Amino acid sequence: PPPPTHLYGRDQYLDDIVTSIMTKLSSGASAHLIIRGPGGVGKTAIARAVLHHPSIARAFGSRRLFVTSEGRDTSSLLLSAIATELGLAINSSSNLLKEIISSFKSDSRHLLFVLDNVETIWYSQDQTAIRDLLQHLASIPSITLLFTIRGSEQPYPVKWDPLPPLGALSPEAAHEAFSTIAGGRTHSCLDGLLKGVDYMPLAITLLARLAQIGESVPSLCDRWQSERTGLLQLSRHDPEENMGLSIQMSLTSPLMRGNPRNMWLLSLVSYLPGGVPVRNLSDMMTVAQTELSPAIHTLKRLALVSEDPSHSLKAHSLTQAYVSEHHPP
Ligand SMILES: Nc1ncnc2c1ncn2[C@@H]1O[C@H](COP(=O)(O)OP(=O)(O)OP(=O)(O)O)[C@@H](O)[C@H]1O
Ligand SMILES: [Mg+2]
Repeated sequence: PPPPTHLYGRDQYLDDIVTSIMTKLSSGASAHLIIRGPGGVGKTAIARAVLHHPSIARAFGSRRLFVTSEGRDTSSLLLSAIATELGLAINSSSNLLKEIISSFKSDSRHLLFVLDNVETIWYSQDQTAIRDLLQHLASIPSITLLFTIRGSEQPYPVKWDPLPPLGALSPEAAHEAFSTIAGGRTHSCLDGLLKGVDYMPLAITLLARLAQIGESVPSLCDRWQSERTGLLQLSRHDPEENMGLSIQMSLTSPLMRGNPRNMWLLSLVSYLPGGVPVRNLSDMMTVAQTELSPAIHTLKRLALVSEDPSHSLKAHSLTQAYVSEHHPP
């Protein structure tokens, strides 16, 4: 895929990834990095920027592989995609995993393997098969791994190099992104609007594109008050152009559907935008802590909620807006 057209406020994060990869390479090892974060925060954009970074292009040349697991929620679908990308001939009797691994091992030149949207396969029925693949990949010294995952989890048992989860943009970067895409349109209500969408890149991009096709900023501010996430859509079917669909994807994850308590808890937390102290949850909801803890853990794993320093559980503001409208308690 091409480099992203816009990438504001990510210089440091991008630099940290490139440095980490290059440092490992120069010591004869290879980096294992995973970009974690909620939907639409810009994980893929960063992975694409890394792929095209001049130092990376120089170090890996044509040995840069990009595979997405989006829509590939079985190991055979994912392995076929990797095999195709590697140019391996596939037939029905192939042991794909074995062939992929031996193809990776047969060439000792460095290779950068970007696997996007690992959550699709990681939270599927085939997690065991994928764990096997990861373990193999991580043991090949010439392969640098750069994965992205929607959520806060680092798939076990790979030993990942340190990389903090990706957060929202700074207010300055959010403004810059908006005004560049919107062709300079601005208004005093913009600060509040960008803050209202939690400085989330996908939401900012959608707002800016609405402005760019002619909607005034004050009108966007007004509509945000009444339409909330319903405003953030340029297409009905494509989650990359529709904030609600993007959030819905996390809500329908197999991990989320595994227990009805998960959605129940998210609805309640979303109903209380100020957040709920974790220690009060059990009493407030008259549910035993043993039932609550797994649900809290799942929502955190999917990066749908986070716990602030005072131990309050809070849904991210777009999730909160979407869930309180579409899944009220
Ligand atoms: N730093 C940025 N500056 C400007 N636009 C950005 C930035 N980061 C991401 N975007 C834009 O925001 C949108 C969402 O980004 P991206 O697809 O990378 O998110 P993601 O975290 O990979 O989402 P998902 O979890 O759905 O895979 C894209 O349109 C992208 O171009
Ligand atoms: Mg992505």
